[in-house]
Amino acid sequence: MRQTIREILDRPSLGSHVSARGWLRTVRHSKNVSFLELSDGSCFAGLQLVASPELPNYTDVVRALVTGCAIEVQGELVESPGGGQSVEMQVTQLDQVGGVGDDYPLQKKRHSFEFLRTVAHLRPRTNTMGAVFRVRNAATFAIHEFFQERGFIQVHSPIITTSDAEGAGELFRVTALDFDERPAGEVDWSEDFFGTASYLTVSGQLEAEIAAMAMSRVYTFGPTFRAENSNTSRHLAEFWMVEPEVAFCDLDELIRLAEEFLKYVLGRVLDQCPEDLEFFDKRIDDTVLSTLRHVVETPFERISYSEAIELLLASGEGFEHPVKWGSDLQSEHERWLSEKRFERPVVVTDYPKDIKAFYMYANDDERTVAAMDVLVPRVGEIIGGSQREHRLDVLVQRLRDAGLPEDHYWWYLDLRRHGPVPHAGFGLGFERLVQYVTGMANIRDVIPFPRVPGSAEF
Ligand code: 4AD
Ligand code: MG
Repeated sequence: MRQTIREILDRPSLGSHVSARGWLRTVRHSKNVSFLELSDGSCFAGLQLVASPELPNYTDVVRALVTGCAIEVQGELVESPGGGQSVEMQVTQLDQVGGVGDDYPLQKKRHSFEFLRTVAHLRPRTNTMGAVFRVRNAATFAIHEFFQERGFIQVHSPIITTSDAEGAGELFRVTALDFDERPAGEVDWSEDFFGTASYLTVSGQLEAEIAAMAMSRVYTFGPTFRAENSNTSRHLAEFWMVEPEVAFCDLDELIRLAEEFLKYVLGRVLDQCPEDLEFFDKRIDDTVLSTLRHVVETPFERISYSEAIELLLASGEGFEHPVKWGSDLQSEHERWLSEKRFERPVVVTDYPKDIKAFYMYANDDERTVAAMDVLVPRVGEIIGGSQREHRLDVLVQRLRDAGLPEDHYWWYLDLRRHGPVPHAGFGLGFERLVQYVTGMANIRDVIPFPRVPGSAEF
């Protein structure tokens, strides 16, 4: 395979002959020379090209090039006299591979992120999206590395399920029935494809628990779907989740795992994407780099939900949502704790059982569960997890209290009859992690094709 621009720029050998290909990011024709910036997406920087009138196709082809054209070039790598880059290519041959229509929407001026979402097929060519994609890639790799180095086995949980893993009812239905022929009100789901009502999964956790009860340490990394109608900067209808599940593990051990995990992944991204992160720090949020470095070095704070409520009540802040024991923490509360009070990630534990999912281990106080959320500045909840209820009788009661059908979860209950052990796991919202790393304000701008209420184009 031929070299990428990243490979050329990583170890530039001056005087050598190289070739490159990609799309033009900027084009500047002056009187007797053309300056072109070529990007192939492999790294943040583009390759600066200098094309002179000696090229045989200078007048016909080179002078007609505009932003967005796809080209292939060869030339000599020389020291660059201009600022901004250390090397540039003195072009000896240039071929246009693909032209652009005159309505090409990405011009040199800065576009708003809202506008770029309307051209999601072209936005990967922008600086910002390219950097986001490379950070996603580096974080994905780091996540696998972290778990693989620690003996975790990746399991592939299903995307189509028949049970609501969170019990929150935010399910997208999957059906193969033809509603043109049958009124939706008269549906018998037993006639549907799977012989029962089925949905897109909201979490791979329940299946991860099955695997952990045989393989001990497992993780999933896959897409999850939630039909929650929240038009916020932190919610997507389709997002990726990383869900480790560990047998013979309690809440304390789980919290230590979560802290080690986040630090590892952030540290690896800092190592792997210095130019992309510098860009985010300069152009998006000037606290990105200092925050990441700080997080990697500082121990997380740890408090119980009840302590968090006391701190919030004593804060003197005029919160929009009232603070009350028994109500869920809202994003403004989460952010106050991590941004203002502690200025670092905070692990909140032992939430009231009535606001948490049915599968969480019931504490002896009978009013809280062994849950933990990791809250980080700017983003709020980035990880949610818990020790799992492994006692059959308690779990059956939790399902009943939550009004969930026991027969649906028969296999989940069965795991509590055959070799049950204490176990625990968490879910990291991958896009929230990418938001945290990049400083991007809206979660829609850290995923290639955002799915949100009213929008699933591309
Ligand atoms: O807290 P959640 O709902 O936990 C679970 O789904 C558990 N089954 C995880 C487990 O214990 N295995 O979701 C986990 C994380 C949240 O902390 C948040 O980061 C992210 O997933 N998340 C979302 N991210 C984007 N858009 C949404 N609509 C999200 N809902 C949750
Ligand atoms: Mg949660």
